[in-house]
Amino acid sequence: MKTSSKLLLQNGIIVNEGKARQGDILIENNRIVKIASAIPVNRADEVYNAAGKHILPGCIDDQVHFREPGLTHKASIASESRAALAGGITSFLEMPNTQPQTTTVELWEAKNQIAAATSAANYGFMFGGTNDNLDEILALDSKRVPALKLFLGSSTGNMLVDNPDVLRKIFSSTKLVIAVHCEDELTIKENLAAAKATYGEVIPPDQHPIIRSETACYLSSSKAVALAKETGARLHVFHLSTAKELKLFSNKIPLADKKITAEVCVHHLNFSDKDYASKGNRIKWNPAVKTEADQNALWEAFNNDLIDVLATDHAPHTMEEKEQPYLQAPSGGPLVQHALPAMLTAVNQGKTTLEKLVEKAAHNPAILFDIKDRGFIREGYYADLVVVDMQQPTTVSTNDLLYKCGWSPFEGTTFSAAIERTLLNGHWVYCDGEVIDVSVAMPLEFDRN
Ligand code: DOR
Repeated sequence: MKTSSKLLLQNGIIVNEGKARQGDILIENNRIVKIASAIPVNRADEVYNAAGKHILPGCIDDQVHFREPGLTHKASIASESRAALAGGITSFLEMPNTQPQTTTVELWEAKNQIAAATSAANYGFMFGGTNDNLDEILALDSKRVPALKLFLGSSTGNMLVDNPDVLRKIFSSTKLVIAVHCEDELTIKENLAAAKATYGEVIPPDQHPIIRSETACYLSSSKAVALAKETGARLHVFHLSTAKELKLFSNKIPLADKKITAEVCVHHLNFSDKDYASKGNRIKWNPAVKTEADQNALWEAFNNDLIDVLATDHAPHTMEEKEQPYLQAPSGGPLVQHALPAMLTAVNQGKTTLEKLVEKAAHNPAILFDIKDRGFIREGYYADLVVVDMQQPTTVSTNDLLYKCGWSPFEGTTFSAAIERTLLNGHWVYCDGEVIDVSVAMPLEFDRN
């Protein structure tokens, strides 16, 4: 790790822990050493004038697919972690549906080694549960593994865990957070058969939310929640997409005390089934983007804390793969570079507040996964920060995309706010539209007994 000079961020509007107020931040040796209304300039070697800009804690994205090892024609840890920094995401938790799948300790260690050599952002890797790796799950080091990921519905990579006895054993025996993808297989199969009966092999993309339906989501997530309640497991339900599922969650207790939590993704907040007509398979995700009523309910739950965490489910596929007909086109799309600008735009539109956004995108993932010394702007914490300009419009253009797959579902969109700079572990890593340092990432640590 490089040693840093003393950096002073002056006069920014610091958004943290429910407040936004002007102040200075002094950074030394990777960490924030002082936050005050005014810090003397002579205490610093470098001064950055953040007047008129907002300073947020770097986002922690708890669900990304960076495709390495094995699927590097779509993406790599190196390429997508750079895109994450440009998007103000300083830490990521990556998913196990790579090739090979991350389902043994050995393969999990190998993935960490790739990241240690190539990741530009702070990293953690979820471990994949299968129908037959309980021994491996029980041997995991909870200070290094953020969570166990279970696909309770099949998606990219065929990692379905569908044996009820195995599920019960996993839920009853691990203390790790169990992060789940919930969609009911049988319902999807039946809906798909019905769609094929109507359309033959050429199914229009707008049928995706009819096939991967509300019922498919609810059946699966309600079962997972019931099993967690019965066994006392710590359950985190990924990418909610329907209003109906929201009743499975509570906003009556603080996050730190919750045993059942929920995530929403940027695409489910930003798109609805009206967008299939213009975007087609580019917005084909699992779970599917659903109705406007669902989208509105998700926003409400984001604001009233039924939902705890915001993520991207960044899941790149090549344009060639996405341009195939609906049945062949894989689900998923790249988002890490544009999630925060999209959400800042939503703040400018009055859909939420900056304080709430910071809570869901930085504070809460840190609390939920016990991430050590990150996710907040606090003295003693790592200096992972994003400087944003809430008045600077930016248009997403193909030339500026850092994703290896080279496309974005937001291409052509003009956001009303922009990311100016990103600071990682006390170092400027993104500034003036360029990733300038890829050498300061660290593995995330999890503060657990
Ligand atoms: O749309 C999705 N794509 N949903 C998932 O759960 C997996 C992801 C992928 O890996 O492509």
